[in-house]
Amino acid sequence: MALVVNTQSPAGKQVDQVESQEDRVMVERAASVGKIGALKGGVLGLDIGTSFLVASWMQGEAGKSNVVFRSQRSAFLELEATSRNLRMLEQLKHAFIQVDKKLYLLGDPAIDLANAFTSEVRRPMRRGVLAPKEKDAIRIMRLMVKHLLEGIPEGTLVMYSSPADPVDHSLDTTYHRDLMCQIIEDDLKCKAISMNEAYGLAHYELAEDKMTGLCFSFGGGMVNAVMTFAGMDVLQFSLPKGGDWIDEGAANARGTTASIMQMMKEEGVNLSKPKNEDHQAIAIFYKRLIREALESFVKMLIDEFFERDFWSQVRIA
Ligand SMILES: Nc1ncnc2c1ncn2[C@@H]1O[C@H](COP(=O)(O)OP(=O)(O)OP(=O)(O)O)[C@@H](O)[C@H]1O
Ligand SMILES: [Mg+2]
Repeated sequence: MALVVNTQSPAGKQVDQVESQEDRVMVERAASVGKIGALKGGVLGLDIGTSFLVASWMQGEAGKSNVVFRSQRSAFLELEATSRNLRMLEQLKHAFIQVDKKLYLLGDPAIDLANAFTSEVRRPMRRGVLAPKEKDAIRIMRLMVKHLLEGIPEGTLVMYSSPADPVDHSLDTTYHRDLMCQIIEDDLKCKAISMNEAYGLAHYELAEDKMTGLCFSFGGGMVNAVMTFAGMDVLQFSLPKGGDWIDEGAANARGTTASIMQMMKEEGVNLSKPKNEDHQAIAIFYKRLIREALESFVKMLIDEFFERDFWSQVRIA
């Protein structure tokens, strides 16, 4: 079924119409974050994270170009499409989408409203990949990417981040990587190339070290790590635990919600001298995560290079 909706949203922005795969009518009433104009070099970076989606590109004339960043929390809240809720969201001028009788609030407003209702937001991703148990994960991710990259010129090269397979082989990242590629290519009509998240980070963090070293990305859903030598990624792995694991662990220990612990964590916790019992719980899980990431790296190093008799084959001339 195709339906063309062409009215103005309360925020004065054009209302888009999207048709879902199940032939249901889905109306997007996302308040526009501003259209992306001409991109310098025709390239855009997209970091697809469990906590944040971040886009970055260069724009401007030669000699006057600047880097632009745009980010959105990777979270959403589902509400009933009652006239009361619709009125409230319209008054708040919050971005939302409507699917049948449900309203979905995206990004930071979802977190603000969830905290006000002391409920938890839902997330399209978990532990670095599309959440397997979230039935609306693909649909929401599609809308989030489309919303974040509104106006991206067709044919743009989108370099997007992807996680490495976890050390414990607890998940396969292929499905996530290929699905994100499909969203970028089919929905945005752009070219997609994935890059390992930690390797992408190494291009910046290790630039002054001849791209040789170790790089860890401690994210919301996982830890991604890479070892590079002269620009080559010699070793890469992930640990399927991150900031969310800290929030959930500390919340269980202290009998509160993960959102509240996340807020406290982001306000700043002194890991050496936690100021109260909540901070102490956060610090315990923080330290455990750092230890596990380092232990995983040592284990990978031993498995990859020592047990495979790598060093005996290296000729020293
Ligand atoms: N100011 C802060 N202090 C401490 N932690 C923070 C702060 N801001 C954000 N975080 C935490 O950092 C994590 C998000 O990091 P990041 O944006 O790198 O993750 P991501 O890329 O979305 O996720 P992933 O790469 O794991 O899929 C969350 O756990 C969040 O709570
Ligand atoms: Mg990340």
